[in-house]
Amino acid sequence: MSAYQIAVLPGDGIGPEVTREAERAVLAAAAAFNFEVSLEYWPIGGTALDEFDTPFPDATQDACLAADAVFLGAIGGPKWDHETGARRCEAALLSLRKTLGGYANLRPVIVPESLVESSPLRAERVAGTDLLIVRELTGGIYFGQPRSSSTERASNAMVYDRDEIERIARTAFNLARKRKGHLTSVDKANVLEVSQLWRGVVTELHKSEFSDVELEHLYIDNAAIQLILRPSQFDVIVTGNLFGDILSDLAGTLPGSLGILPSASVGGRVGLFEPVHGSAPDIAGKGYANPAGALLSTVMMLQALGENEAGAHIQHGVVKTLEDGILTRDLGGTASTGEFGNAVLNHAFSSTPVTV
Ligand code: NAD
Ligand code: IPM
Ligand code: MN
Repeated sequence: MSAYQIAVLPGDGIGPEVTREAERAVLAAAAAFNFEVSLEYWPIGGTALDEFDTPFPDATQDACLAADAVFLGAIGGPKWDHETGARRCEAALLSLRKTLGGYANLRPVIVPESLVESSPLRAERVAGTDLLIVRELTGGIYFGQPRSSSTERASNAMVYDRDEIERIARTAFNLARKRKGHLTSVDKANVLEVSQLWRGVVTELHKSEFSDVELEHLYIDNAAIQLILRPSQFDVIVTGNLFGDILSDLAGTLPGSLGILPSASVGGRVGLFEPVHGSAPDIAGKGYANPAGALLSTVMMLQALGENEAGAHIQHGVVKTLEDGILTRDLGGTASTGEFGNAVLNHAFSSTPVTV
């Protein structure tokens, strides 16, 4: 029987609330599909800072490196926003990502049929949206040197090496090949040298290895508007760290909530799976955070571990729950986080009735 060790980092705000639903789904999947999981909980972010005086304890780092997969809820919040440098919650998340090495952050965006009518955008625009943002995650302006800070002047540098561009582009081309065969590369090559290199390397790789994939280049400002005007025409989008961060939050408007978007960071030593959203301090502790993004991140984790059938069942559970109109408040419903999770488990593993 396969056995997986999963490091679970619930984090801050709604992180633990949505992580709880993900854990229940993983445990139910293991029971239904005959594999073993051991879930180990580790502190990160503000809760770690409060208890251990660092947002990224060494023990957390070691456990993540030793695990088969890492699941993270969310980090950060107003309580810790005054912190600077390595004491920031966000710095802990960036260190975790760099340590694990997953440079390809996959952020799929689908608008299920049942949400088309309730999307803030017109139904005919969002219907059929099924796209994948491939965000470069371990380079770019988030990590570029030099960086500096003083009370009068501060700077960050957007830096990419040829190798970093080539490997993320290769990942994106390969994914496009398995999907609809279309790749959009997003940059700011009309202004930034780093984007001119990006565009050049993507174009070269297209010519040499992926001429069967249709390649299009868009500037980031135009990409933002196109994502809203014609989302269903995108297949795979590849872009750098900062542009990918912004575009993926924007893409949350398509299904109507950031709360349903999942992500997987792959290509490194250990895979990292986390919803796209943050700790949502405005709704933390209220019990109605949407756990769909966390649950779909679990699907991506199970797929990466080779448990495709188990993943498919949870995905089916999420889609059916949305179809049943069991929605949390962000999508206009009244369901609690736990009620949504129960409905998903009942659909996914109907022979195993569940209660909160
Ligand atoms: P956010 O994603 O936490 O929230 C943005 C908006 O979306 C809020 O109105 C929130 O209520 C809503 N929302 C987000 N997730 C939701 C869910 N699952 N269900 C229902 N509504 C949801 O972004 P923010 O407010 O800009 O950031 C808050 C904190 O989270 C900051 O400290 C930020 O740095 C951190 N953050 C962490 C991560 C992460 O851990 N991966 C990601 C983004 C932001
Ligand atoms: C995300 C978040 C993070 C990022 C922050 C919290 C460091 O916004 O995962 O999208 O910018 O990558
Ligand atoms: Mn973000």
